[in-house]
Amino acid sequence: MCGIVGFTGAQAAAPLLLEGLKRLEYRGYDSAGIAVMGGGIRVEKVSGKVEKLCEKTGDGALVPGSTGIGHTRWATHGAPTDLNAHPHLSNDGRFAVVHNGIIENYAALREELTAKGYSFISETDTEVIVHLLEMYDSGDLKATVMKTVARLEGSYALGVLCADAPDTLFAVREASPLILGVGVGENYFASDVTALVSYTKNAIYLDDGEFAELTPKGITIYDCSGKRLDKPITRITWDVEAAEKGGYEHFMLKEIMEQPAAVRAAIAPRLKDGEVKLEEFDLSEEELRQFRKIVITACGSAYYAGCAAKYALEALTRIPVEAVLASELRYGDPLIDEHTLLIVISQSGETADTIAAMKECRSRGAKALAIVNVVGSTIAKTADWTLYTWAGPEIAVATTKGYTTQLAVLFLLAMSMGRKLGALTEERYPALLYDILRLPKLIQEAIDLNHGIPALAKKYHDSPSLFFIGRNTDWASALEGALKMKEISYIHAESYAAGELKHGTIALIEEGTPVIAVCCNEALEDKTVSNIVEVKARGARVLAVAFRGDRKIVSQANDVIFIPRINTLFTPVLAVIPMQLLAYCVARENGCDIDKPKNLAKSVTVE
Ligand code: F6R
Repeated sequence: MCGIVGFTGAQAAAPLLLEGLKRLEYRGYDSAGIAVMGGGIRVEKVSGKVEKLCEKTGDGALVPGSTGIGHTRWATHGAPTDLNAHPHLSNDGRFAVVHNGIIENYAALREELTAKGYSFISETDTEVIVHLLEMYDSGDLKATVMKTVARLEGSYALGVLCADAPDTLFAVREASPLILGVGVGENYFASDVTALVSYTKNAIYLDDGEFAELTPKGITIYDCSGKRLDKPITRITWDVEAAEKGGYEHFMLKEIMEQPAAVRAAIAPRLKDGEVKLEEFDLSEEELRQFRKIVITACGSAYYAGCAAKYALEALTRIPVEAVLASELRYGDPLIDEHTLLIVISQSGETADTIAAMKECRSRGAKALAIVNVVGSTIAKTADWTLYTWAGPEIAVATTKGYTTQLAVLFLLAMSMGRKLGALTEERYPALLYDILRLPKLIQEAIDLNHGIPALAKKYHDSPSLFFIGRNTDWASALEGALKMKEISYIHAESYAAGELKHGTIALIEEGTPVIAVCCNEALEDKTVSNIVEVKARGARVLAVAFRGDRKIVSQANDVIFIPRINTLFTPVLAVIPMQLLAYCVARENGCDIDKPKNLAKSVTVE
């Protein structure tokens, strides 16, 4: 979703801001703008891509000045037009603001400000902020910012520029991420470390209710009452290459190929002396016994990771597990109390629905264990325990390594809890441990086994609709496979529990309808084969995902993509690989914008 950057120092600000905005493009946006201090505030903004803004400003050379703010907007209030793009300027031209999030009381504020004579030129909720700054301007910028922020309800990360303080920026955070970058003779802020990492590795994570004053000489951080705070500097551990394509045509392909290494990074530090050891969640048997049920909550692919891991968690801990969409859980009346372990899964750690669901469940007494990729994110910081997935930066909007590393960590969690609770027996444990150790290698094999996918994509790319079926763990994989296909190729794709087909959906199967059948659950293979036979009898073309060498499937399906054999509970982490590649190749065949699919954002920080 929207992105923010800010810079103050001795260098030209505009080229740096544009570079930062380019690094934030992956989050999804529809317009972009910058405001730079140069004998007054100059604002340049466009609807469309950052590239257009670069053309308009001669790559920043036409906008002189060394302090500025920039923004990529993902429209919520008002269409993606030049006027609605950020930064917004106050009527007297002395304040400029960029904003991520939503100002929930903007309608009342707009009415109040209009009555006082301020004129609005955009339809955005953000514009109220610049007029409030002008209204409360007392000559003391810090006090003006505090008075303004006190009037705002909702979520916001703000960057503020004021013509009266030419080398000063204010950065404010409330329920929307904002990170400060500490440089030498220059300082930065951004909504995402990706925009900072080529300039500095030293970051300070603002918490909700905090704000900062940045000048080239230093950064001062305050709490909401204006009291100075000392906050630690966090060293960013990955470098700029990690956020670049490294020779791949798309970030998504690069991230698919990074999965063996990413999963290795997720599991290696947690396997010690032949045991799974989760130092971040090191509860005793007695403490674990407090939990009578496990509720998993998340959105999108992270939810599907929860659906897939539910089988391993239930099988290995023997505690009942329920996976609930965060957007449903937050407004439900869930039967959750202090005997519930809530597992919260999120790549970004900033998904608004997931944060709200976590808050709701914790207020009912549940303890929250977060499984998160982005270090220092809201979910990571507010959960009772956090297990990082260590996948590195994920730039493509469609998650791949984010999803598989979530699964890897969830499987480790199931094994660790199962061992402590005694539900995972001595006899069963070594085989599972062996499979977990081999996961990175098996993922590499799943990638290498599928040279034929580009050719298959040519067969399937012009289908108006695709069905993904499977049973049990395979159904969970099918859900993620269908989501990958629809979000990047824009082809209608639906996933069904294979046994459900005959209760309605089979009516849609006709001559040539593609059905992707995930058949990696050996105990249920015959059942899924019956479903393959049923749909083929009605004209479907079946592409199966199966274990290498599975002759039964080869004899039944029209085409087969293979994965290496692994314990059934862990199959989702391998079954998804060929489906990621298939979605990628189909989208490429169809000329889609793979890394930035239309209408989607990487981090969904608003409801
Ligand atoms: C799909 C995808 C989304 C996210 C969802 C949750 O490829 O990436 O469905 O999984 O928006 O995002 P996080 O994991 O950041 O909470």
